[in-house]
Amino acid sequence: MSTTAANATAVLPPQSYRLLGKVALVTGGANGIGESIVRLFHNHGAKICLVDIQDDLGKRVCESLGDDTNVSFFHCDVTIEDDVRRAVDFTVDKFGTLDIIINNAGISGSPCNDIRNVDLSEFEKVFNINVKGVFHGMKHAARIMIPMKKGSIISLSSVASTIGGLGPHAYTGSKHAVWGLTKSVAAELGMHGIRVNCVSPYTVPTAMAVAHLPEEERTEGVMAGFRAFAEKNANLRGVELTADDVAKVVFFLASDDAKYVSGENLMVDGGFASVNHSFRVFR
Ligand SMILES: NC(=O)c1ccc[n+]([C@@H]2O[C@H](COP(=O)([O-])OP(=O)(O)OC[C@H]3O[C@@H](n4cnc5c(N)ncnc54)[C@H](O)[C@@H]3O)[C@@H](O)[C@H]2O)c1
Repeated sequence: MSTTAANATAVLPPQSYRLLGKVALVTGGANGIGESIVRLFHNHGAKICLVDIQDDLGKRVCESLGDDTNVSFFHCDVTIEDDVRRAVDFTVDKFGTLDIIINNAGISGSPCNDIRNVDLSEFEKVFNINVKGVFHGMKHAARIMIPMKKGSIISLSSVASTIGGLGPHAYTGSKHAVWGLTKSVAAELGMHGIRVNCVSPYTVPTAMAVAHLPEEERTEGVMAGFRAFAEKNANLRGVELTADDVAKVVFFLASDDAKYVSGENLMVDGGFASVNHSFRVFR
């Protein structure tokens, strides 16, 4: 369990539960931001199916929640439509419905700073997980949500959904695509009362993010090095973005507090994507 994820497990009194009776499916829930989402949603009384390709890690998250009957692990590779179909059906069979899907599973792909050397199989892998995987989740959640005339579909995008230069081409392209799919699917599903949004964090110290570090920044104290790198390049100073912080924004979008929010790309970036300090006007 990550330290930040552990923080999301603080026990709440039942009257504070804000997702009581809701059923959620979280992809990539075995680790990082997905794990924090699972813990926070569980803490707020939701019934959760977490899916991942890392079975041992996923089962460990369930066990750490006391093998609660409200949490289940299901093996699912989001690139395979039939896996996603079966994960959604499993969730509905087990918990009765599907109110919320979090399309969180994603990879950054290998760094490559010369387009001439981009490996197209790597490019396709990133798009398969980050774009096709998200679309599979949207499609199969919609299958359950349309007849209910309600639901919330939330996908993890990134600051790389709005600007270039923050990661490999495939990652940036894929996260722009998540934002595009969010708007497109929100346009179709609005008439069914279904909200569709995405969340775009700045960098968070997870297994995936560390892979983004420039070679020379991957020092012995890699997490310390990562934090220093994130702080140095951030707009908002003196606070660190954690997986739990991202989970809280996802939680807001999933909750009834966001009942009229749809088609949004909610930036969790401390203003990073809105400002450009290259002219050194303020620093
Ligand atoms: N960490 C960051 O800095 C950051 C910033 C912006 C956006 N994001 C996005 O947040 C999401 C979560 O990232 P994270 O940092 O927690 O990553 P992570 O690597 O810690 O966790 C990702 C999880 O997805 C799972 N996964 C990967 N491929 C899968 C597949 N084909 N099917 C099912 N599960 C699969 C992994 O096994 C893992 O458990 C991603 O979409 C990522 O792009 C992360």
